[in-house]
Amino acid sequence: MSAHNEGATTQTTARHNPSNPWCDRLPPCTTTAQLAVIRLKNPLLPSQVAAVSHSSSRSESDPEKAQQFAGRLLRALNDGSLCLMASIGHRTGLFDALRDQPPLTSAEIADRAGLHERYVREWLGAMVTAAVVIVDPRTLRFSLPAEHAAFLTRAVAADNIAVFTQYIALLGSVEDDIVECFRNGGGVPYAKFPRFHAVMAEDSGQSVMSSLESHIIPLVPGLADRLTSGIRMLDVGCGRGRILIRLAEMYPGSSFVGMDLSNEAIQDARDEASSRGLGNLEFAAMDLSDFHEQAEPDSFDCITTFDAVHDQAQPLNVLKGIYRSLRSNGVYIMQDIKGSSHVYNNLEHPIGTFLYTVSCMHCMTVSLAQGGEGLGAMWGEEKTREYLERAGFRSVVKHELAHDIQNNWYVVGK
Ligand SMILES: C[S@@+](CC[C@H](N)C(=O)[O-])C[C@H]1O[C@@H](n2cnc3c(N)ncnc32)[C@H](O)[C@@H]1O
Repeated sequence: MSAHNEGATTQTTARHNPSNPWCDRLPPCTTTAQLAVIRLKNPLLPSQVAAVSHSSSRSESDPEKAQQFAGRLLRALNDGSLCLMASIGHRTGLFDALRDQPPLTSAEIADRAGLHERYVREWLGAMVTAAVVIVDPRTLRFSLPAEHAAFLTRAVAADNIAVFTQYIALLGSVEDDIVECFRNGGGVPYAKFPRFHAVMAEDSGQSVMSSLESHIIPLVPGLADRLTSGIRMLDVGCGRGRILIRLAEMYPGSSFVGMDLSNEAIQDARDEASSRGLGNLEFAAMDLSDFHEQAEPDSFDCITTFDAVHDQAQPLNVLKGIYRSLRSNGVYIMQDIKGSSHVYNNLEHPIGTFLYTVSCMHCMTVSLAQGGEGLGAMWGEEKTREYLERAGFRSVVKHELAHDIQNNWYVVGK
């Protein structure tokens, strides 16, 4: 049977190759037929997997598949470039300037956005060839179809995918440092990501703020009533604190505390809270690596982490601290990245490549830079449950919310 025969159905057990790192990550009894299905579902599965999977010698390369793969890579070149330009389109307000407009010239678009026409014209070139913006060749006027504006503009709140394209540019800015880490180990610290907290605040603006009242607080029956009557709530790894600020405005009878390592993010949170005249919340800049020892026991009725456990230096200590701080009838709401702890289970993940990349070039490396565990964003549901149990929690209920394909939502109790 050819090693590259996609139609292979022979039920031979794959030979284990301990020198191949991919081998460990496959299910122990993966057969040739199972691997053929895996490869069919994911044509980009590394060639090493195919090599591990077959006991027979390597066959000739299939020219048709090679051609398809080359086409796939060319599309990736264009799509990677589209992400960089979409990030610029978001930051400069170009997508917003095009929304609901009749066809406009590049000069009119530049004028509406307050930008230089020469740059806008080149950006339009990228957008037109990516089929995001439509050009009329007779008039050289450009338009953004409503169906595209529905995923690229600020007006659409949770559906604005342009927000996430900013991560590609942000990660590219530390490529040299990451290459050094591949060679010498260690990590890239938060200080090397000057725009991280701004982009993260926009990210959680989409996945959390847009749905706080409608979907997230209702995950815990009775929580809205308890917040109205007055409880104490803590957000761990709060970043710029926008979620807590919104909650403090919504529930003036409750009191809120936000904690985060970043002085810059905490200062931003304090400034925003004081500009809104809020007296029922406070923010503390602190390293939570020893939270299992520092946490004030039995002091909060509700604790939240919004994508803030996996990139901690010591995630288990943070979870143990949350356990310690939570009152016995309290609830812990944890938003964290959706996925499996096993790479072979993530082949059909809609944004798997994106999340492993963000993990490698941010979440994992910022933890390693603190001398931490380097868990990574794709630590997965299995490990999440294991860590929660090791921290002492006994009740874990997972929810998936339609607007948030990136995360699972766990409602956790003692
Ligand atoms: C992915 S961000 C999430 C921020 C925020 N929850 C949000 O949704 O916008 C993770 C946060 O964990 C914080 N963090 C990382 N390591 C930490 C540590 N050792 N102690 C406290 N906070 C830490 C970072 O500063 C960052 O704000």
